Amino acid sequence: MRVIGFASGKGGVGKTTIVANLAILMSKWMKVIVVDADVFLPNLHAAFGLRTATTLSDVLTGNVDVEMAIYSVSTNLHVMPASPAPNLKIDRLSEVIDELKKDYDRILIDFSAGLSKMASIPMESADILFLITNPEKASLVSAQKVKKIGEELGVKGGGVILNRYAGEKELFKVTETMLGRIVGLIRESKYVAKSWEIGKPFVVLYPNSGITKDLVNTMLNITGQNRRIKPYGKLWARLKGD
Ligand SMILES: Nc1ncnc2c1ncn2[C@@H]1O[C@H](COP(=O)(O)OP(=O)(O)OP(=O)(O)O)[C@@H](O)[C@H]1O
Ligand SMILES: [Mg+2]
Repeated sequence: MRVIGFASGKGGVGKTTIVANLAILMSKWMKVIVVDADVFLPNLHAAFGLRTATTLSDVLTGNVDVEMAIYSVSTNLHVMPASPAPNLKIDRLSEVIDELKKDYDRILIDFSAGLSKMASIPMESADILFLITNPEKASLVSAQKVKKIGEELGVKGGGVILNRYAGEKELFKVTETMLGRIVGLIRESKYVAKSWEIGKPFVVLYPNSGITKDLVNTMLNITGQNRRIKPYGKLWARLKGD
């Protein structure tokens, strides 16, 4: 399971935030590249404070080699950003991913939200697909549709990451019923906005925060070391802090 995809139905649920932070954590053990497959509104580079010139979009339009679109965050962590290019040939993404396989232990892909072809075709390149949702009905319902697309494409489902959780216990259960096993429960935290402002993932800026712990648990689950995820209520959510 080297190619790990992250998708959502609704936009703005936290895919890019989560992928960037997971990548930092995973790169402590292995060589990782994160690919921004969101060619509508790409912003993965901003999570790492990177300025970009050549991107995946140039690679897909056939202008440049893959290496030209790879940026280094650290020795073990590289990023392939995208630039807005909604009409490019996204079906070539799987060739690009194949090329990356020889150099990296894990390839994380940040897909664009929604059910369009531009969002769904690239999902084929993942070995395993994780769904990201917020604890709200609209986000859950659209995630269910993306789950179905993943299944139709024959991509293995990895489970669900419930982001911006603030003690909505009933919705935790609904999420499991609608989407399957919850492998990550990530709290609502003020550190997320701060880290976007600064241009560095919060696991680096706030290593002792609660939300960093949530990400570590999610990472352990994703890499197959089963961590039990338990829902908690609103009072406990307030006590837990950020
Ligand atoms: N756990 C969290 N706590 C508080 N704010 C969060 C959390 N996760 C994400 N956010 C906020 O939600 C917004 C959207 O996050 P992000 O860009 O990661 O979502 P996305 O799913 O990648 O969006 P898009 O579909 O546009 O690509 C950001 O403003 C971010 O700060
Ligand atoms: Mg995003």
